[in-house]
Amino acid sequence: MQDITNLPFMRVLCRRSVPDWFVTEYFRVHPASKLNRQLLRAITENTTGRPVFAQLIGRDLPSLLRSAAELAAYPIAGIDLNLGCPAPIVCRKDAGGGLLRHPDALHRMLGALREAIPGRFTVKTRLGFAERSEFPRLLEIFRHHAIDGLTIHARTVQAGYQGPVHPACVREAVSALACPVIANGNIVDTQTGLAYHRQTAAAGLMIGRGAIRNPWIFAQLQAAFEDREHPIPSSRCLLEYIHDLYAEIAREAPRFEPLRHVQRMKRTLGFISHGLTPDFEAHLRRCNTPEEFWSICHEHLENDAPLPPCPPAASKLFSGFEALAGEVRSPRI
Ligand SMILES: Cc1cc2nc3c(=O)[nH]c(=O)nc-3n(C[C@H](O)[C@H](O)[C@H](O)COP(=O)(O)O)c2cc1C
Repeated sequence: MQDITNLPFMRVLCRRSVPDWFVTEYFRVHPASKLNRQLLRAITENTTGRPVFAQLIGRDLPSLLRSAAELAAYPIAGIDLNLGCPAPIVCRKDAGGGLLRHPDALHRMLGALREAIPGRFTVKTRLGFAERSEFPRLLEIFRHHAIDGLTIHARTVQAGYQGPVHPACVREAVSALACPVIANGNIVDTQTGLAYHRQTAAAGLMIGRGAIRNPWIFAQLQAAFEDREHPIPSSRCLLEYIHDLYAEIAREAPRFEPLRHVQRMKRTLGFISHGLTPDFEAHLRRCNTPEEFWSICHEHLENDAPLPPCPPAASKLFSGFEALAGEVRSPRI
C-alpha cells in the first residue's frame, strides 16, 4: 500500500506475524520513469525472510517492458501488474484500474508482458471498472495469457473501498483459471478471513488495511486454519507496535523532522486507532507535536484490555466487512 506498507512497516509487521509473501508499493512506470530507489530497498534490504513481488503501475507498454527487465536484476519473487488502483489521477491516465476500461489494449499488454517476463508474472485486479458484468471478459483475458497468479480485490474500481466484496466472483475465477487465485478486500479478523476462504476456495488471502490495524492477523489466521488458539493482543501490545513503527519510520527518514514525523504517523494511525475509543481518534487528529502524540497514545493504550477483534460495525474505513462473515459472526473471538 502506497506510503504505508514499506520497508519499515515490513520489519515491524514481521516482529508480530509473518505473511507468506509481500508485494511492494507500486513502481510508477512511464516513458521517463526510473525504478524508485526507496521502493527498491523493500527488495534489496528485505530481511523478513519472505519473498517480495515488485508491483508495476502504468499504461505505456515499452516502459512496462523496460521496467520489468530492469527489475529482473533484483531478487524479486515476480512482477505484479496493478489493475486495481481507483485514484482518479491514475485512472484518467488509463493506468491501474483505468486499464480495465480497455480490455483489448489490456489483452495486448498482458500478451507482450507474459512473453517478455521469464519468471513469475501475476496480476492484481478489480471485478471491472464500473460493473461486475465486465468480469467474465477479464477472466478470459487472464486465462488466455497463462498468468502465474491473480489477486482479486473483489469490488469494481468505481466502488473504491466502500461496500461489501463479492466472494462469488472470486470463486468464479478459481474455477476458470489454472493459476492460484488470491482473495482480497475487507479481511479484518479471523472470522472474515475464514469466511472469505470458505466462500471462494481461493489459494490464499491478501490483507492490506486489516494488517495495519492488526499486525498479528497473519499469525491469528494461521492458528485459526490449524484450529489452534492465538493469544488476544492487549492495548499495551498495540502501544508497543506504535512505538516500534515510530522508531523504524524515523530511522528511514532522510532527515528527522519531529512535526512532519507526527503527521506521517497520524496517516498510519488512522487505520490503527479507528474505533478503539472515540476520543483516541479525535484527540490524535488534533495533535501536532511528538509530546502530544505520545501523551495521547499512552493515555488510551497503557492498559491490559484485550483489543477488539474487528473494527466497529458500520465502519466507513472498513466498509462492508460484516457482510463477509454474515450470520456466523459471533460477538467476540
Ligand atoms: C492507502 C492505500 C494505498 C494502497 N496502495 C496500493 C498499492 O500500491 N498497490 C495495490 O495493489 N493496492 C493498493 N491498495 C489496495 C489494497 O492493496 C487492497 O487491495 C485494498 O485496500 C482492499 O484490501 P484490504 O481491505 O485488505 O485493505 C491501497 C489501498 C489503500 C487504502
